[in-house]
Amino acid sequence: MPGKIISGAGAVGATCADNIARKELAQELVLLDIKEGLAEGKAQDMMQTAALLGFDTKITGSTNDYSKTAGSDVVVITSGIPRKPGMTREELIGTNAGIVKGVCENILKHSPNAIILVISNPMDTMTYLALTATGLSKNRIIGMGGALDSARFKYQLSLRLNCNPADLNAVVVGGHGDTTMIPLIRFATWNSVPVTKFLNEEQQKQIVADTMVGGATLTKLLGTSAWYAPGAAGAALVESIVRDEKKLFTCCVSLSGEYGQKDICLGVPVVIGKNGWEKIIEFGLNEKEQAEFNKSADAVRSMNDVLKTL
Ligand code: 2OP
Repeated sequence: MPGKIISGAGAVGATCADNIARKELAQELVLLDIKEGLAEGKAQDMMQTAALLGFDTKITGSTNDYSKTAGSDVVVITSGIPRKPGMTREELIGTNAGIVKGVCENILKHSPNAIILVISNPMDTMTYLALTATGLSKNRIIGMGGALDSARFKYQLSLRLNCNPADLNAVVVGGHGDTTMIPLIRFATWNSVPVTKFLNEEQQKQIVADTMVGGATLTKLLGTSAWYAPGAAGAALVESIVRDEKKLFTCCVSLSGEYGQKDICLGVPVVIGKNGWEKIIEFGLNEKEQAEFNKSADAVRSMNDVLKTL
C-alpha cells in the first residue's frame, strides 16, 4: 500500500477520505480541520468502520496541527466555506483565498514533496493561487472540477439514454463554474458510438444545460454544496496518482499555450499518474468550442485578477 494522504474533514473532505480508506489508497490518512474535535471525531468514526469494511488504512485526525501531516504524498485541499443556495462558486473567493494559501504553505512546510489536489471553490482560481503562491512545479498542482463535472455529464446522459453511466465516455472542459464549464457533447460516446446519434438537438442542449447547473441544482436541494460526487471524484484522482494508473481525467491545470491559453489554470483532459498531471491531451476543438473555451478563460482570468486586490 502507498504512503500517507491528507484530506480535509468537512463534508467533501471526509467523503473523499472515506473512499480513500475503502480503496486502501494509503497506509496512513490524516484528516485535518480547524474546528476543534471535528477531524478527530470523523477519523474515529471512520476507523470504527474498518472492522466492518475490512480496510487496513490507519485514519487519524488533527485540529490544525500540521506536524501530524508530515511526510505526506498527496494532499486534498477542501478548506474554505461552501456555497449556499443562490450563491455562485465565484462569490467565495474573498474568504477562501486566504484560507487556501495558508493551508498550502503549512502543508508544504511538513510535506515538501506532496502533490496538491485542490477542491476548494472557486476551484479554478484556487488552483491558480496554489500554483502561484507555492511556486511548485506545475505538474504537482491539480484542480478537481472537471473530473466531477464529467461524472455529472455522464449522469445526465445516462438519464436520457437510459443506460449505465459507466458505459459512457464524456468530458467537460473549461472552468468549474455554472457558466464557464463546457460539456463536449460532440465527443461523448456510448460504448464508442457518438451519443449525438441517439439524441436530437433539443435533447443535447438540455443535457448540456442540466450538466452546467449540476452543482447549483444540488446546492438548492441540500442548502449547501454537494459532497458525495465531489468526494468520489477527488478519490478517483488520488487513486490514479498513488497507483500510477495514467487515467485520462479532465482536471484544472496550468496551461502554457495548450488549448490556446497560458498563465491560467483551466479544465482540460490530462493523464494523471505518480507525478501528478503528466500530459495534456489536445482534443482538437472546433471553432465554436474554442470560442467557448476562450470565453471561459476570460471569465476565470478576471476571477484570478481579484486575487491581486485581496
Ligand atoms: C460542486 O460542484 C463542490 O464545487 C463542488 O458540487
